[in-house]
Amino acid sequence: MTKYIVEGGRPLFGEVHISGAKNAAVAIIPAALMVSGPCRIENIPQISDVKLLLGILQDLGANVRYVNPHTVEIDSTKLRNGRVPYESARRCRASYYMLGALLGRFGLADVALPGGCDFGGTRPIDQHLKGFRALGAQVDTQGGFVMAEAVGGRLKGTSIFLDKVSVGATINIMLAASMAEGLTVIENVAKEPHIVDVANFLNSMGANIMGAGTDVIKVRGVPQLRGGTYSIIPDQIEAGTYMAAVAACGGEVKICNIIPKHMDCISAKMCEMGVDIQEVDDSLLVSRIGPLIRTNIKALPYPGFPTDMQPQMAAALCLAQGTSIITDSVWSSRFRYTDEFKRMGAQIQVDGNLAIIEGVDRLTGAQLEACDLRAGAAMLIAALAARGISEITNVQYIERGYEDVIGKIRAIGGRIRAVEIPEEEPVISSAG
Ligand code: UD1
Repeated sequence: MTKYIVEGGRPLFGEVHISGAKNAAVAIIPAALMVSGPCRIENIPQISDVKLLLGILQDLGANVRYVNPHTVEIDSTKLRNGRVPYESARRCRASYYMLGALLGRFGLADVALPGGCDFGGTRPIDQHLKGFRALGAQVDTQGGFVMAEAVGGRLKGTSIFLDKVSVGATINIMLAASMAEGLTVIENVAKEPHIVDVANFLNSMGANIMGAGTDVIKVRGVPQLRGGTYSIIPDQIEAGTYMAAVAACGGEVKICNIIPKHMDCISAKMCEMGVDIQEVDDSLLVSRIGPLIRTNIKALPYPGFPTDMQPQMAAALCLAQGTSIITDSVWSSRFRYTDEFKRMGAQIQVDGNLAIIEGVDRLTGAQLEACDLRAGAAMLIAALAARGISEITNVQYIERGYEDVIGKIRAIGGRIRAVEIPEEEPVISSAG
């Protein structure tokens, strides 16, 4: 077990290089199991979720080889269809993409349901299952496993209208449909950049997917996907997290290797908050010299403000002048992290899916416990901005999605170090 010790209260200066997008990588790796032939994936982030999914592919018989730290070669030609056990599936929600990928390639999938409820509420997959059923699969959930089998051995193209805009359901159905017989039309789909990235990956392997990034995706099934090379897009949320850190701490940081267009919804809010943003090629120069100004944020599906950024923005807004309101319309109870902020001196009231933040002049260092990935990132930002020393435990959540977070924060002048917690020292819990 590791904890982070953060000495806060300093502005940040320098450059940070953004890694490949976690939410694209965790879908593209399962997608690679559908490919017959070697498939080279570049710009893979070095994060624990990626290691876990590559491990699942290896357990199923894929050949996985790192060409360099950010390029992996996967050959699933001889992959066997097998059960994905709870032990692997429970540690990464994206393991549900194994369902669409195995069902698409073999007409049969048997995958443990991902465990936990990261955001303090349920995370249903009914829309994923509705899509598989519409494609002609018989789907059963028993003993914590989803078993899906294509009637007649192969899925059949169809029309599907999602009741709810869902990133996971859009990708899972797209995976399954890419090797189905005939045309599948999926309406009311999610439009996040990583949806487009997964579609581009599949197309570069021989799939025929049109419309990713719009409300309607059309997939003409192909009998086989072949190998190729693909590079994952930069991580919008990692970039936004470092932008929020500059907003909270002040200073000037160049956020390098991004797609500025993907950052528009975040950059616009930052500007309202008094943060200066200049676009230079594939970088953003982010600086904050004056006071932070209050704003309201409504988390919505893309191109709206991403729910995965609301905790990090809340960290900065704790220090803004005036009252800010954050509404999360995607996850209705994603505010567990606010209890930790309150212990640093923040003034926040939560009412259902609303958080009302009265800005304070300063936060003070405290013992903090990360409760999910983005909440952990938000605590890191609060700790960097706070006066004094903070200790953050449960950092395995942060390491699920942020590559070399210690190195990147240090490179921009943040004082942070990782310390191993001896087994006998109890982890300080604030979950109460
Ligand atoms: C993905 C992201 C997660 C992000 C979320 C929303 C990955 C690995 N994770 O999660 O970081 O916070 O998108 O941008 O990419 N819903 C249903 N039924 C379903 C599926 C979803 O009702 O079958 C609801 C959910 O409860 C939620 C909303 O739809 O309220 C959006 O969920 P969804 O987009 O599916 O999130 P994930 O794919 O799980």
